Amino acid sequence: MRTKIVLMLVVMVATVGLSRADEKPLERVELDKRIATAAYESALLGTSLFNDDKNYEGCYRLYQGTLLAIVPLLDHRETLQAKVKLRLERAADNIKAGKWDAPKGAFELRTALDEILEEIAPARNGKKGATMWERLGGEIGVRKVVDDILLAAAEDPKINFFRGKKPDPKIIGHLRQTLVEMISENTGGPLKYTGKTMAEAHKGMMITNAEFDAFAEVIVKVLKKHKVDDADIKVLAKVIESTRKDIVEKRD
Ligand code: HEM
Repeated sequence: MRTKIVLMLVVMVATVGLSRADEKPLERVELDKRIATAAYESALLGTSLFNDDKNYEGCYRLYQGTLLAIVPLLDHRETLQAKVKLRLERAADNIKAGKWDAPKGAFELRTALDEILEEIAPARNGKKGATMWERLGGEIGVRKVVDDILLAAAEDPKINFFRGKKPDPKIIGHLRQTLVEMISENTGGPLKYTGKTMAEAHKGMMITNAEFDAFAEVIVKVLKKHKVDDADIKVLAKVIESTRKDIVEKRD
């Protein structure tokens, strides 16, 4: 189910800006941006296939297809192109040798996607770093955290997240994006928040303090599961707490 939603979002994001063909050839900078988007979206969907669906072969094939399409476009980055080719070959040799190991192949190719992001768009692929955004794993890491928060919140009757209504994929997609942006804005990330104010977004939901507490608890639990430092959790908990006055309508 979650993979379906992720796939829908990937297609949405990957096709933005591609609606009109331009007469001029692409500038290298624009080409790099598109390569990074393809690598990033593939890594995101692959993570979901690997971790959530345990579909290791699906993940391997997705990465392989993405990399085979990207390799010829890396001719202006020869060293990177050679590294990626080598990883593709290594993963394929793994099959030829009769030792087909899909998780191992997926890891090899994921490393290649990370190397591409690292060289072309390091801000999208944060690992250990100076800002909290980077420590959270950049956009990929934060999206994973947000997905887990939404999944856990949707399942918790103490939160009653969708207020008795059937979850709408469009709303989930929007929420997922705006939550990532909100975290980005508060942790030194590159994305700016584009959603409604907290009061507008939650108006009429009659959210209680107890429901808010339960949601805050879920967020902390998920952050702990992702091994986020206690100091960083404290900062994020403060950000969440600062929204209580705009979200809680029904005093209990
Ligand atoms: C018990 C507490 C909460 C419940 C039940 C709840 C529920 C919801 C629901 C159902 C929506 C979708 C509204 C719609 O588009 O129809 C929403 C939107 C949103 N919520 Fe919450 N929420 C809660 C607390 C929070 C907290 C603590 C945060 C962040 C600190 C947050 C951030 C957001 C954001 C960013 C949106 C999207 C805003 C937009 O539409 O532009 N929510 N919430």
